[in-house]
Amino acid sequence: MNPTPVDAPGRERQDAYAVSAEFYDVLQAERDEARVRALYRDDVRGARVGVLDVGAGTGRVTLMSLLESRAPVHAVEPARSMRTPLMTRLASLSPELTKRVTVHPQLLEEAGLYGVADVAVCHNTVACLHPESRRALWPAVAEALVPAGVLLVQLPPARLPRHRTTLVLPTRTVGRHEYGGRMVTSADVDRIRTRFDYWVREDGRVLRRHDETFWMWPLSRPEMIAELRKEGFIALPERPDPSVLALRLA
Ligand SMILES: C[S@@+](CC[C@H](N)C(=O)[O-])C[C@H]1O[C@@H](n2cnc3c(N)ncnc32)[C@H](O)[C@@H]1O
Repeated sequence: MNPTPVDAPGRERQDAYAVSAEFYDVLQAERDEARVRALYRDDVRGARVGVLDVGAGTGRVTLMSLLESRAPVHAVEPARSMRTPLMTRLASLSPELTKRVTVHPQLLEEAGLYGVADVAVCHNTVACLHPESRRALWPAVAEALVPAGVLLVQLPPARLPRHRTTLVLPTRTVGRHEYGGRMVTSADVDRIRTRFDYWVREDGRVLRRHDETFWMWPLSRPEMIAELRKEGFIALPERPDPSVLALRLA
């Protein structure tokens, strides 16, 4: 009898980041690196039990946590396209660092993590979750934290945008090629449509173009606090950067 492969083809979920993963680090890494350090460094430095990076992506928060704390780090990343650059990033580190980080290739709700962290970070993770998925995430975060553990959530947009807006991402040159992109957001009933357009140029000529669309669900700070209160979280005082909500397990 053939044993069933643990990760059989077809069991892999559709990968929402299949296109963006290639462009994620090249177009957004520098800005994001400084941002996650400013937003979470002091918290992860204080971690004693562990740091949980929920939706680790290509590893921006994971790497900062490894470098800034001495605690174990748990990076949870279900999308293979994002987990692959995360693993490459981790593989380039010294064994002293890599032995402290564990990568969990599932949704947090499926990872079976209990009491592994006293600091959990959801950076740029919950805005793109359907409200049902978002609500399913919180009990798993609570279980993964020890009592009095702290959760840091980067808040989704509080409301729908009034107008269509375009954010041009700074271009990067890689050898002969220039990489560029833009993000176009617009309201669509109760959701925010977020379309990323990417391009690669050589001598002004477009070699290729790709696009990928994500959906975001707005939620205000008071609504987020109320949602998390049901899962046993109490909001902490507002931080210098109000885009992040800090809560503590009661
Ligand atoms: C927009 S990306 C952000 C990645 C990273 N935090 C960053 O800011 O660069 C959101 C990530 O959350 C992951 N994700 C979505 N639902 C999740 C869940 N329930 N548990 C863990 N990760 C999840 C996705 O696979 C995706 O890589």
